[in-house]
Amino acid sequence: MTEPGALIQLENVEFSYRGYPEKVLDGVSARFLPGRCYTIEGPNGCGKSTLFRILLGLDFPDSGTYWFDGTPVSARKMKDEKFARAFHRRIGYVFQDSEVQLFTQSVSDEIAFGLYQLHLPEEEIRDKTEYYLNQFELEAFRDRAPFTLSGGQKRRVAFAAVFAMDPEVIVIDEPLAGLDEKGQRWITDFLRKLKGSGHLIIVSTHNRAFAGEIADVHVAMNEGRLSVV
Ligand SMILES: Nc1ncnc2c1ncn2[C@@H]1O[C@H](COP(=O)(O)OP(=O)(O)O)[C@@H](O)[C@H]1O
Ligand SMILES: [Mg+2]
Repeated sequence: MTEPGALIQLENVEFSYRGYPEKVLDGVSARFLPGRCYTIEGPNGCGKSTLFRILLGLDFPDSGTYWFDGTPVSARKMKDEKFARAFHRRIGYVFQDSEVQLFTQSVSDEIAFGLYQLHLPEEEIRDKTEYYLNQFELEAFRDRAPFTLSGGQKRRVAFAAVFAMDPEVIVIDEPLAGLDEKGQRWITDFLRKLKGSGHLIIVSTHNRAFAGEIADVHVAMNEGRLSVV
């Protein structure tokens, strides 16, 4: 049974990668409420990225249930195209590695790409692209190929492309990884400003100080299990 108020709920989720016996998620139960920022804190290899793959509907629990807004998200449910489209519209993902996320010829194309997928009118796409270029301080790089940018700039492009879609839930995997101090500060300040904007934000990190700055709720992850701290 899902509890009222939770947009995302996990109930005793277990998951192993095919061909590997160990349980990467070993009975994960959690509730995530709209409008809050959760940090998932734990060491390398504890299962953070795997948990995010489940939340994004890229992998599915071997047992237990993942509810999104009251609907169990399963491999079978995701074959329902209408459901899958609506689901992906509502939940956005910033990958740990910006390289794998960026694939267009220019920064502005990168932001506009998802908006074209939504079949928005041309003018709205242009306006939104401008707005997000500005929000993420990317105007000077609009025509640059994303692969020519620095790590911090690439991360901002990845953020801009996801935020332009205005998803209700934003899942962000280790946003500080590989950034210098200035890049880390920018992302931290951005996420702090974002708090209270109504989005449900779930951020993984192994940086305690960063978590302390942005979290409404601290969740510890260890060997495939979660606990609220
Ligand atoms: N594609 C995969 N196949 C097999 N094992 C994997 C795969 N991806 C991750 N793992 C294993 O799952 C565990 C959790 O990994 P991961 O979710 O990436 O942790 P984290 O993001 O916290 O560093 C690790 O032991 C890792 O080796
Ligand atoms: Mg990871």
